[in-house]
Formats: sequence, C-alpha cells, structure tokens
Amino acid sequence: MDRIYKYTVPIGIDFGPGAIEGLGRILAELKAARPLLVCDQGIRECGLLDKAIAASGPIIEDCPVYDAVASNPREENVLDALDRYQDEKCDGIVAIGGGSVIDAAKGVGLLASNQGDLDEFDVLKGGTARIRNGPPPLIAVPTTAGTGSEVSRGALIITTRDGITRKMIAASPLLVPRHAILDPNLTLSLPALLTAGSGMDALCHAIEEYLSPRMHPVVDSIALGALERIARNLPIVMKDPGNIDGRGEMLMGAMMAGIGFEKGLGIGHSMSHAIGALHNIHHGVINATLLPVSFEFNREQIAENLASTIAGKIGLDSAVEGNALDSIIAWSKGLNKEFAIPSRLRDLGVPGEDREVLVELAMADHCHRTNPRRCETADMEEFWERAW
Ligand SMILES: [Fe+2]
Repeated sequence: MDRIYKYTVPIGIDFGPGAIEGLGRILAELKAARPLLVCDQGIRECGLLDKAIAASGPIIEDCPVYDAVASNPREENVLDALDRYQDEKCDGIVAIGGGSVIDAAKGVGLLASNQGDLDEFDVLKGGTARIRNGPPPLIAVPTTAGTGSEVSRGALIITTRDGITRKMIAASPLLVPRHAILDPNLTLSLPALLTAGSGMDALCHAIEEYLSPRMHPVVDSIALGALERIARNLPIVMKDPGNIDGRGEMLMGAMMAGIGFEKGLGIGHSMSHAIGALHNIHHGVINATLLPVSFEFNREQIAENLASTIAGKIGLDSAVEGNALDSIIAWSKGLNKEFAIPSRLRDLGVPGEDREVLVELAMADHCHRTNPRRCETADMEEFWERAW
C-alpha cells in the first residue's frame, strides 16, 4: 500500500499510509482555524498525538488539547472538554483515538451547539429530535480498527442520573463526523489485546448488522464486505503487527461496518453496553466473549442460507457440508482462544451478583431490538446465564 485514496461514503474519507498529513488541509477546507484536539492518556503517552501534530503542519501546533477521555467515555469527560472548547474559543474538533475518544468528541460538539442536559439527548428519551443544530466540524482520526464511530451518527457516553449509571446514546445524522482520516501508520503500535479487542468489535458489528432482521440490502452488502476483510486480516495483523496492508484492510473493514450501524446490532451489543457502563472492560473484548453465545442464543432464528453466506465470507466453504452455524460457532470460539479472550463473562471479571442490574440495563439498551430472536427480560436472563 503506497498511496492515499479519497472516498465520500457518505462523509469524506482520506485512506492510506500518511493520510494524517492531510489534516491541516482538511481543517482549512472546513474553515476550522482553532480546533480542540481530543484524545486519551494512552494516545498522548505513546506519542501518537505528537505524531499527528507533527504531520499536520502549523495549523494545529498551538491548538488546545483535552487528553483525559476514559476508556469508556463519561459525561464528565464531555463537560470538561466542552469547557476547554468554549474557554479557548475553538471552532472545530479533531478526535484522535479509538471509539471512546470519537464518541466523547461527538458529545462535545453536540453540547457546543445545542442547549440542554446531555441525558435529554438520549435516543430512548426522544433525544434525536432535540438535536437541532449541527455541531462544529469534527474530524475523526481512528487509531484503532474497530469502532466505526468515525463514520457513524451515534455516540455512547456514560451518565449517572438518580443513582443509575448507564450508557446513554445520542444519535443523529448531524453527529456524523465531517471527515475521517484512516491512516494505517497510526495503528501499527496498537498493543495485541487492543488490536484483537477492537478488531473483534468490528467483526461483531458486521455479523450483528447482517443478522439484523431489518430490511436493508445496502448495509447487507457492506456488512459482508466488512466481514470478509476483517476475518481475513485480523489474524494477519495479530501475527504480524507491522503489516501495513493488513492494518489498512482492518481500518477499511471497521469503517465499512460503521456505515452499517443503521441496520441495527444485536443482543451481544446490548449486554456489552450494559457491562461497559459498570466495569472498565474493553468493549470489543466483551463482544468477542459474547459472540459464540449470541450465535447459540439465536440458533433457531438464523436461517441456514444466512449462516452459509457468513461461513463463505469467512472462508469456511469446505467446512459447511453439515451445519454452517456450527462451523461459524467453532470458528468464533477458535478466534477468541487464539487471541486469549475469555469464553465466559466471569473470566472477564464481571461479578455474578451484577446479574439483575446488567439484565435491566441490557434490556434498556436499544440494540437487542434488532436481534434475530425477540428479546424479553426472560430471554435476556437466559442470555446472561449462557454467557456468565
Ligand atoms: Fe461495538
């Protein structure tokens, strides 16, 4: 891979090694002269922030930085960064990091342009209609290949109201970043567990989208394309972290799966969001643990032709003589084993006594509404029992 490609799907995308060098030009095009740079401590400490600043030229050299986004973004991160944004009279935002950083940056943009309490913008409270004003231009620079947030309309942020802590979801076409820069050079130093966790997150997005019962042929095609890329390249970059082509394919696959969010996800993401609100466990690792469980839970509702299509995309053609779903389940368990991802929630450190509250939080999450199997509280309890 030796050049930069430009796409609009539906936002502008610069893709390729060295694409970060275009950041200054993109800011100028968007008329953002003083952006707030948003990242987390890990991005700062591993030098990626400095790398991005050095590559982008003078326009962002003296820009203010908010570097304290938590690994699951919290409301206080958004409010602190918003203070910085307003104090420094910023006119744009550059998010450099994983999904948490990009989601927090979307929260800053949302509150910078819309009056109200963050929780009021929750989709479950009809908040999408309250997002009336487009936020300042946001440029997303993902440093992991997983989130898809760089092209999506949603932001998940932990809030606490009346003693209840959960992940609220703000979602609106207005929250889609104005531009994404996918530079595989920025993912080369990602540690193995984060490569595996974020890659499995993207894989779960693609699979859950494809299996969502909502009618959306466009997303079906994109999700299958994402699945094929991720399934082929995740093992490659785990064995060979410096493989720039593999890293690029992972970024492309994760971004494609991000475009597919509007078809909806599934029960795995509902439980993962619930757990992520209470425990500081990597979102993608939770999803990976839950993936084989989700297949089993949905067994009756996953049609044989869908399972066969998935099996074909992940390269299991010769293994699907009998039951394609069984082959996929064995494959997903094998991937988790290869990446040292536990097979049970208890081994991830999720306490058994959280059962009731996590089932309740997972039921309040909207992702299970597009799960292949209809999901009432008793079903969620069954899912928990299978997964814990
Ligand atoms: Fe996810």
